[in-house]
Amino acid sequence: MRDPLDDRELTPPPSFSEARSTRQKARAAGLDPDRWYAVEYDREIKNGEVKEVQFWNLSIALYRGDDGVLAAVQNRCPHRHLKLTHGAVDKCQLRCAYHGWSFNRDGWLTDYSHDSFGKPLIKSRLRTFPVEVRYGLIWVFPGDSDLASVEKIPEIPELMSDNPWAGFTVDYTWKTHHSMVIDNICDFAHAFLHRKYQPFVDAKLTHYESDDEKVYLTYDTYMAEGKFSKYFVNRKRVNTRSIEICYEYPYQWSNTGDSIKHWCFLLPIDERTTRVFFIFYFDSVKIPLIPFNAPKWLTQMVLNASVPLLFKPLLAEDGVALEAEQIGYESHWNAPPIELNPIVPLLQKLTVQKWQQYVERNTAPEKSASVTEPVAEAV
Ligand code: FES
Ligand SMILES: [Fe+2]
Repeated sequence: MRDPLDDRELTPPPSFSEARSTRQKARAAGLDPDRWYAVEYDREIKNGEVKEVQFWNLSIALYRGDDGVLAAVQNRCPHRHLKLTHGAVDKCQLRCAYHGWSFNRDGWLTDYSHDSFGKPLIKSRLRTFPVEVRYGLIWVFPGDSDLASVEKIPEIPELMSDNPWAGFTVDYTWKTHHSMVIDNICDFAHAFLHRKYQPFVDAKLTHYESDDEKVYLTYDTYMAEGKFSKYFVNRKRVNTRSIEICYEYPYQWSNTGDSIKHWCFLLPIDERTTRVFFIFYFDSVKIPLIPFNAPKWLTQMVLNASVPLLFKPLLAEDGVALEAEQIGYESHWNAPPIELNPIVPLLQKLTVQKWQQYVERNTAPEKSASVTEPVAEAV
């Protein structure tokens, strides 16, 4: 018999198709694979190395050949279905660990010459994924490759010019659903969580609007009020009393006074795991007691020092809260939510709409390819 004090739900949260409310649907939705996703730092995969990355349970082998060129292929050998990431890069090909079948960047099986059954080379091809490098990150297009040239990696002009802004990238892998991350980084009602660092204080939502692609909002707030950070912002030059935020599906960005900006790129690993890449960039910072703005090199030095002291621990606070929220949701997914910020339902609605559209596109009779079923053809 069930303990009468145990108020947890008896069943796990509903799937996307079973869910009844927008919030439940958002918590079960994936992110549209027909977009570009940051999956790893460029520097993390050296020549001759292979690494597994995962997009919504789809395992991808990402490797770099001896010539420095990256490739992303289905991480499953068609022979006995081992992950190819158990294998090794051989010049510019990926060789399976078990019987040594070798696949080129286009996914074609090119060699199993060590086998001596006298059979001709079978025709077999791994699914491949478009790969790009931008902003120091490797981007993969996990969906329909034909759409990879239609959908774009977000443009960040401040980082693409000959004289880019100073900045840094930090990342986290949190045990939380990606929709909770979006709620968190767009909803400034959680200043209490950050009472130690005070990145925003007394935020008031002043404007919001949404359409089929984005949710845009502004807050009036006191930005960068922390004990440490407040000395590094030139308030005469930079308006730190308001911030613009946008969930530009499936990405998110903010802008404070056209001087402090960030993008957030989510990698939905599975239903309860999300890797989050934040790129922050600043046109300049102020150095205490010095009357002018810091030059670029000094700005970068100050930022480098502030990453471990301020940004990483600050964002880690969000991770602690989000992982706790995930556990809370799994235990109480059917309890009625109390939501005060009107943008949160809009964020969830956009996530749900986009996933619904993706599911419908891919369950149409003429289209049978699935994100969880990589294509391998053997003749
Ligand atoms: S399982 Fe990969 S070569 Fe046999
Ligand atoms: Fe936060």
